[in-house]
Amino acid sequence: MDHKPTRRQILFAIGATASVSLLDSPLSLFKHAEAAQPLVRRDIGGMNASDPILVSYRKAIATMKALPANDPRSWAYQAAIHGSFVTPVQTAWNTCEHNSYFFWSWHRMYLYWFERIVRRFAKDPCWALPYWNWTAVNERQLPAPFRDPASELYVANRNAAMNAGTGSLSAGRVDYSPAFSLTNFVSASGALEGTPHGAVHVDIGGWMGKVPTAAQDPIFYLHHCNIDRLWNLWLAQGGGRSNPVGDATWGTRTFTFFNEAGTVVQMTSCEVLRAAQQLRYVYEGEPPQVNQHCRPRIVVPPFTFTKERFMIPPIPPITLNSDQTSISIDLREVGPRLRTFMSGTTDKILLELEDVEAERAPEAVWDVYVGLPENVTLTSESPHFVGSVALFGSGIRSETRHKFLPARFIFPLNRALVPSLERNAEQLSVIFVPQGVLVEGKPLPPDVKSPVRIGRVGLVVEREQESGGRKLKE
Ligand code: C2O
Repeated sequence: MDHKPTRRQILFAIGATASVSLLDSPLSLFKHAEAAQPLVRRDIGGMNASDPILVSYRKAIATMKALPANDPRSWAYQAAIHGSFVTPVQTAWNTCEHNSYFFWSWHRMYLYWFERIVRRFAKDPCWALPYWNWTAVNERQLPAPFRDPASELYVANRNAAMNAGTGSLSAGRVDYSPAFSLTNFVSASGALEGTPHGAVHVDIGGWMGKVPTAAQDPIFYLHHCNIDRLWNLWLAQGGGRSNPVGDATWGTRTFTFFNEAGTVVQMTSCEVLRAAQQLRYVYEGEPPQVNQHCRPRIVVPPFTFTKERFMIPPIPPITLNSDQTSISIDLREVGPRLRTFMSGTTDKILLELEDVEAERAPEAVWDVYVGLPENVTLTSESPHFVGSVALFGSGIRSETRHKFLPARFIFPLNRALVPSLERNAEQLSVIFVPQGVLVEGKPLPPDVKSPVRIGRVGLVVEREQESGGRKLKE
């Protein structure tokens, strides 16, 4: 590959250094004696149970579990900040952001304050969370130290095969390349929230499978560290990828957490843009972090995105259950337009599933294949695999707290569409295959607890335009 910066990267770099913001000045809390060097969040792969990182984590978990439940630093309270079935609801409970463009930043803040609390109770001032890099082929099993029933890291209610070490995540569950192909922050974060994020939650199962209980499982924080690391990696790809730093709501909405003294703290997305500088951590093995700044004076971000739902096929609601389900989208009319979109390099075609819901948590995942020619074996290594439907965070009626919100999924289609367009196919197949975790290389048959209903299917084109990142005239 050629390493000359592209015009877009140059534009972006110019934008990024244009002004220093008042919004993202360092947190005053840093007057704590923290190491000047960023701490390193290490890969759990290859760490054994006696690694000081895991010893400290276990020690802190035991201490946090022994605190009274109304102490905001207790294990139960921290988990309830993410979600809880318990009432009455206390300060900051149930505040996780899902199906929202705060998904990445809220979870970053959450991990950050949690990590400080663990550090304090482990009495280990250099402690940093490890991350579970499930995409690596040798890390598809639940990390071994979390499978020892005698350990604080163990949770009995997880998927039995995952807990036994016989189960592993399939390649499709952990494939973030479709999400990474998207350049628009909202779409990339939304696609990634589905696959791998939600799919891995559901595959681990038990507490991890449901938002109101997920953060009670110690593996939650390692899973989310990896999601957080992927935020850095997504930005590092360049090509116009940027946080919505020009969006005032995104940058300035405050969220509530607790510090290691048990005191309420507030944080905004603008305060967590640059992990190494603002939060003093980096990930082991990551490329240099892209340092973004909230720039109140920039009104035009370097790129703007427009979305057009150019086709809503007349398909009745789809029900996903333990059988494979397929639908067919008529391409005869939209074929020519699709071809025009595909001939550009920046237009992204998305399959959108809307009004997705289930009565209870289905505890199952459906892999989605698009444009698969007949008689081809389904494998998630195929270019026709576009992601998974795994309900987590919204769309589950029995988990509704305030107002019911159906789920929405988007799948980038550019790669999967090519063969169908090349052969002028009249129909485009979309196949939903329920698949459990892999045992001895084969997916376990799904045990669907509740069918999933998809209300509407649409084809969307997302177009990217250079806007130059101009600053507002002063
Ligand atoms: Cu807020 Cu992975 O969950």
